[in-house]
Amino acid sequence: MHTLTTERLTLRPWTDDDVDFALDLYSRWDVVQFLGTEPRAMTDREEAVERVARFRGADDSLHGVWLATRRTSGERLGTLLLKQIPASGPVLPLEPSGETEIGWHMHPDSWGHGYATEAAGRVLEHAFAGGLERVVAVTNPRNTASQRVALRIGMEHLGQSDRFYNATCELFLAERPAD
Ligand SMILES: CC(C)(COP(=O)(O)OP(=O)(O)OC[C@H]1O[C@@H](n2cnc3c(N)ncnc32)[C@H](O)[C@@H]1OP(=O)(O)O)[C@@H](O)C(=O)NCCC(=O)NCCS
Repeated sequence: MHTLTTERLTLRPWTDDDVDFALDLYSRWDVVQFLGTEPRAMTDREEAVERVARFRGADDSLHGVWLATRRTSGERLGTLLLKQIPASGPVLPLEPSGETEIGWHMHPDSWGHGYATEAAGRVLEHAFAGGLERVVAVTNPRNTASQRVALRIGMEHLGQSDRFYNATCELFLAERPAD
C-alpha cells in the first residue's frame, strides 16, 4: 500500500504504535454511532490491537486502510478506507458485491477542518489511478456530515439503497473521469 500525501496530510499504513489512537477513536460513540448495522463503541485495548491488525491485513497495492496524519506534526487524525463492499444477502459472511467502497472515520478533535474531504479526495484519485472505474460510498441516512464529505469530493448521490450490508443506506457514486 502506498503512502499518499496532500497539501496538509500524510496517509500512511497503520502500525503497532497506533493502537492507542485506534482505541481513542473507536471507543467514542460520536465516531461509531453510524458505523455498521450494530454500532458498538470499543471498550478494551485488545480489540484495538485486533482492529489495527485487521487494518494492516486489508492492504494490497490498490485497497487499504490508511491512517491520516498531519503532514507537518504527524498528529493522528483518522482512518481512510478503500475496500470491497459486501452485497446484501441471506448468508453470513456476506459475499463481495464487486463494487469498491471508500470510507472515512475521523477523530472528533479533527472535525471541521476539511481533513476528511482532503484525505478522501486523495484516496479517490488513487483508486482511479489504480484502474478502478467506479467507487461507491454508503452512509447511514442520518449521517449528514458524512454525506457532505461524499458530495464535496464530487460523488453523485443516488438516493437510498438496500444493495449493500443488509442495510438501507444513502448511496453515493464516483466514476472515473475521462482521460
Ligand atoms: C464524517 C466525518 C469524517 C465528517 O467530518 P467533517 O470534519 O465534518 O468533514 P471535513 O473534514 O470534510 O470537514 C468539513 C467541514 O470543515 C469545514 N472546513 C474548514 N476548513 C476546511 C477546508 N480547508 N476544506 C474543506 N472544509 C473545511 C467545512 O466548512 C465543513 O464544515 P460543514 O460540514 O459544516 O460545512 C466525521 O463526522 C466523522 O468521522 N464521523 C464519524 C465516523 C463516520 O460516521 N464516518 C462515516 C461513515 S459513512
